[in-house]
Amino acid sequence: MSFRIQPTAPARPNRCQLFGPGSNTKLFAKMAASAADVINLDLEDSVAPSDKDSARANVIAAISDVDWGNKTLAVRINGLDTPYWYRDVVDLMEQAGDRLDQIMIPKVGCAADVYAVDALVTAIETAKGRTKKVSFEVIIESAAGIAHVEEIAASSPRLQAMSLGAADFAASMGMQTTGIGGTQENYYMFRDGTKHWSDPWHWAQAAIVAACRTHGVLPVDGPFGDFSDDEGFRAQARRSATLGMVGKWAIHPKQIAIANEVFTPSEEAVAEAREILAAMEDAKAKGEGATVYKGRLVDIASIKQAEVIVRQSEMIAGA
Ligand code: COA
Ligand code: MG
Repeated sequence: MSFRIQPTAPARPNRCQLFGPGSNTKLFAKMAASAADVINLDLEDSVAPSDKDSARANVIAAISDVDWGNKTLAVRINGLDTPYWYRDVVDLMEQAGDRLDQIMIPKVGCAADVYAVDALVTAIETAKGRTKKVSFEVIIESAAGIAHVEEIAASSPRLQAMSLGAADFAASMGMQTTGIGGTQENYYMFRDGTKHWSDPWHWAQAAIVAACRTHGVLPVDGPFGDFSDDEGFRAQARRSATLGMVGKWAIHPKQIAIANEVFTPSEEAVAEAREILAAMEDAKAKGEGATVYKGRLVDIASIKQAEVIVRQSEMIAGA
């Protein structure tokens, strides 16, 4: 056990991040009216190279022109391996209004990638007298990203969230799949004549959660491509929530309600957590460190588990 206290992650809801291409202006008002906690206007892979300049201009205008309510408003810039990213940062920081909350950096491979963007953002922020500090979120979606996940989580005080990007991650890892997240047909155990599917994203998610929790960053599950498959999305989201992630992307509006439902602790879960806390208060009053709740052991660690659920629920209710 380290003597260092684990830092808390930013106390803002991040149950669903809704994406839309910066080239598709007719989506912006619909995104703003949605129930997503975070909006990601995209300049990267949903925008064709010939549309990069116009998408950037659309997004800069929409940041001020659209009423985004109390959502966290983020723009996904292009990766540092492209010729577009510096212009994305310069134009956003010089021209976008103060409503911009966050810049999402895709395909981060090492802490220096974040440092480079931070240096540019900091210089422009100072030069332009911008008083609101723009925060960062990153996508882990390469072999290098997952190999360096811990240094990336520690890379900048601006960093608030980290997502797993399943599609680019699979490509970078050489995984034999074209599916974006979810169950993969060929990833199974075989026993007694029956296939049992397991989760190929599990270890990457767990590594991201551990790095994020160590450094006070929100861990988020990325896209689920088959938006016709609600139950597949729900199952993936539930696995992510169980592992400690706080939310998931939506690439289509029908995924928003499911993400919000899964990443909001249910009334039953909150009631049970409060009962566990009450049971432990009784135990402590009797000088005991452990007791029995509904036939199972609860002890001082159970207090911390229950508090995670109660805190998450209170933070969402207060949002
Ligand atoms: N945000 C808000 N509204 C959206 C939306 C989004 N991302 N995607 C679709 N809609 C709207 C449509 O405009 C349509 O609205 P209407 O009922 O007023 O006409 C409604 O939701 C139903 O859309 P649908 O016809 O089912 O989808 P589509 O064919 O228009 O679009 C996609 C499908 C996948 C192209 C579109 O959802 C999309 O661009 N998603 C985001 C992609 C992205 O940003 N990727 C980068 C991150 S991986
Ligand atoms: Mg990607």
